[in-house]
Amino acid sequence: MRAVVQARYGGPEVLRMGDREAPIAGQGEVVVRVAAAGVDAGTVHLVEGRPALIRAIMPLRGGRVPGGDLAGTVHEVGAEVAGLQRGDEVYGVAEAPDGSLAEFARVRVSRIAAKPMGLSFAEAAAVPTSATAALRAVRDAGRTSAGDRVLVLGAGGGVGHFAVQIAKSLGGSVVAACSAGKAAIARASGADHVVDYRREDPLARGPFDVIIDTGGHRPVRAMRRALSHAGALVVVGSEPEGAPLGGITRSLGAAMADPFTRQRLVMLSSSEDAEALRDLAALVEAGELWPIIDREFALDESAEALRHLGHGAGAAKTVVRVA
Ligand SMILES: NC(=O)c1ccc[n+]([C@@H]2O[C@H](COP(=O)([O-])OP(=O)(O)OC[C@H]3O[C@@H](n4cnc5c(N)ncnc54)[C@H](OP(=O)(O)O)[C@@H]3O)[C@@H](O)[C@H]2O)c1
Repeated sequence: MRAVVQARYGGPEVLRMGDREAPIAGQGEVVVRVAAAGVDAGTVHLVEGRPALIRAIMPLRGGRVPGGDLAGTVHEVGAEVAGLQRGDEVYGVAEAPDGSLAEFARVRVSRIAAKPMGLSFAEAAAVPTSATAALRAVRDAGRTSAGDRVLVLGAGGGVGHFAVQIAKSLGGSVVAACSAGKAAIARASGADHVVDYRREDPLARGPFDVIIDTGGHRPVRAMRRALSHAGALVVVGSEPEGAPLGGITRSLGAAMADPFTRQRLVMLSSSEDAEALRDLAALVEAGELWPIIDREFALDESAEALRHLGHGAGAAKTVVRVA
């Protein structure tokens, strides 16, 4: 099969187009013929091996196909798989080392669901990782409810634009912070107010019941000051240049301060599963979630797609067309 192959860690230049054996479905797995693959900040981390701990726990023996999110059709069904058959239209997250930037990818049944009705393959591939993180941040960790004042930092990005949509679907009133070039994405996601953080400090619009932090490296104490006395701060992540531990130090700072305050300070650790994918499909089908695709690239332009994402500079979603 045609695939993007990564033989060493580094920037997008380490990615090569190549021929690779198509994966075989193991027990509890299917092989998906990939129509489109979604990429995000996590894809960039795994290609770069950043933070460096990734390189230690995931050595690149034999090379691997990068990419997680995908949408396509079931091609082969492994043993002990019920409810899926060849030809089904699905979306989900591929299993390393047989990632989604290839014609075929291997997926565990616990990380796949029926493609949401009404979405193209490209739109469906934009959903799994970023929208799951937004769902877990806004609904589960943030416990957003009707009437809450919600601030989304990074509202023009992959997780951020979904966070705006999910907060609105739960009845929140949303202030969206993003750079001016991404205001249209935040508005199209349903934000009540859009703030260009380069001209105005969005935290000054507090107090908020929920703050969802997906970009900008604001200190935890500054965000806490903008939070109501029993509000929730959910640190999803950010991409500080040159920090050896990446964005995790702020997340840890929030988790460590949490036991000592009535505020809830959460370090998000999102993982994708079939249940979340089904919940997201239901939101799509109810008209409450709609992926916004900023750019599409061809499979042999995958390195360019990752350059386009940069380090925390994504605009809504970036998708790679495979078929
Ligand atoms: N904890 C988890 O389980 C989990 C899951 C998924 C993702 N993440 C992390 O969450 C972060 C966001 O991921 P993503 O895929 O959404 O990235 P993304 O698409 O690159 O979006 C990040 C957004 O933040 C914006 N931003 C940067 N500085 C800002 C500031 N000062 N104020 C407000 N917005 C600012 C960026 O654009 P502008 O500056 O132009 O507005 C960009 O739109 C990444 O660090 C990722 O690794 C964590």
